[in-house]
Amino acid sequence: MAKLRAAIIGCGFISPAHLGGYAKLDQVEVVGFCDLLTERAEEKAAKFGAPGAKVFSDYQKMLDEVKPDIVSVCTENNKHCELTVAALESGAHVLCEKPMAITGAEADKMVAAAKKAGKKLSVGYQLRYTNEAMLLRREIEAGKLGKVYYAEAAAVRRRGVPTWGVFLNKEKQGGGPLIDIGTHLVDRTLWLMDEYSPIVSAVGNVYDHLIPLGGYNNGGPWDIGRFEVEDSAFGAVTFKSGATLVVKATWAANVKDVDSSLSLLLGINGGAELNNSDLVLNGESCNHLWQYKPEAFHNDESPYDREIAAWINAVENDKEPIVKAEQAAHVVKVLEAIYKSARAGGTAVTY
Ligand SMILES: NC(=O)c1ccc[n+]([C@@H]2O[C@H](COP(=O)([O-])OP(=O)(O)OC[C@H]3O[C@@H](n4cnc5c(N)ncnc54)[C@H](O)[C@@H]3O)[C@@H](O)[C@H]2O)c1
Repeated sequence: MAKLRAAIIGCGFISPAHLGGYAKLDQVEVVGFCDLLTERAEEKAAKFGAPGAKVFSDYQKMLDEVKPDIVSVCTENNKHCELTVAALESGAHVLCEKPMAITGAEADKMVAAAKKAGKKLSVGYQLRYTNEAMLLRREIEAGKLGKVYYAEAAAVRRRGVPTWGVFLNKEKQGGGPLIDIGTHLVDRTLWLMDEYSPIVSAVGNVYDHLIPLGGYNNGGPWDIGRFEVEDSAFGAVTFKSGATLVVKATWAANVKDVDSSLSLLLGINGGAELNNSDLVLNGESCNHLWQYKPEAFHNDESPYDREIAAWINAVENDKEPIVKAEQAAHVVKVLEAIYKSARAGGTAVTY
């Protein structure tokens, strides 16, 4: 059977997560590599390319010449919509890195383009593919929590400001930790609780108190002069279903833990906390309070590889991707609503 011909646009930091996943699958070959910085595309082509793989700096030229079956979009956030729509229109299925887009309008355009082209569109939320997240999702599907009416999604780093790429650039990324790492936890949490009803209201604030202070950072010092986005964001969103989601996202904050990625869920029958790889379910039955902690997993398969394998499985077998484009668009709208409230001085926005 002919192999699926993949191409990638954006050959920077995250690209090996896609390319490494494709390389593990016999039924995929990567035939096109595009980056504005050609040396990056050349380097990745040498490492991950099929024989004869081509290198480009112009994505449209690559789409026209290579005509790939699938495209990974791995550029900065403000290019996701343009590149994804172009790739879909060229006839490819697209896996776009998170966040799907900066605005809900862009995300809707991407969903519409996929529908019009009859192609699949998914988004890179690898946190859904950890052992613990997959187990919790199965427990929730089995009814362990009942209806989840309250949740917290927190991506909280003590000092973890990204120092490569354009993460501090407002125009290119659309914001700081909320859109960068908050998006992962909002996605995982909404997916776990299966909460995709329309947003009713949102309130939030963003802060940049720590930026000018500089000082210790896990990845080395950040450039105070280039910092255009928030260092922390906090918000709450309510949904038509009646559920409430509290969101916290920081790159720098005076918290205890170095880095935590939390989904906290309160359901009628039980609750759950998934923080990094620690999973606890709790509840009450037979007049007793209980906690349930799974044994440590022995399977350390990379969530990125699982993400790519799941994506290829959806394309090959014409199935819905695990991360549906509409779900990722919903996440964009949640983040956008919190930013909107923050811009309005923390006043509630209603829909
Ligand atoms: N899933 C994750 O956990 C995760 C982690 C890091 C980054 N990301 C996402 O991946 C994306 C890229 O982040 P990164 O860290 O790899 O950034 P990066 O700066 O290392 O790489 C981005 C690359 O895209 C290229 N590029 C930009 N516009 C282009 C265009 N029009 N055509 C071709 N190439 C273009 C740049 O030259 C650069 O090499 C972002 O959206 C980010 O949010 C996801």
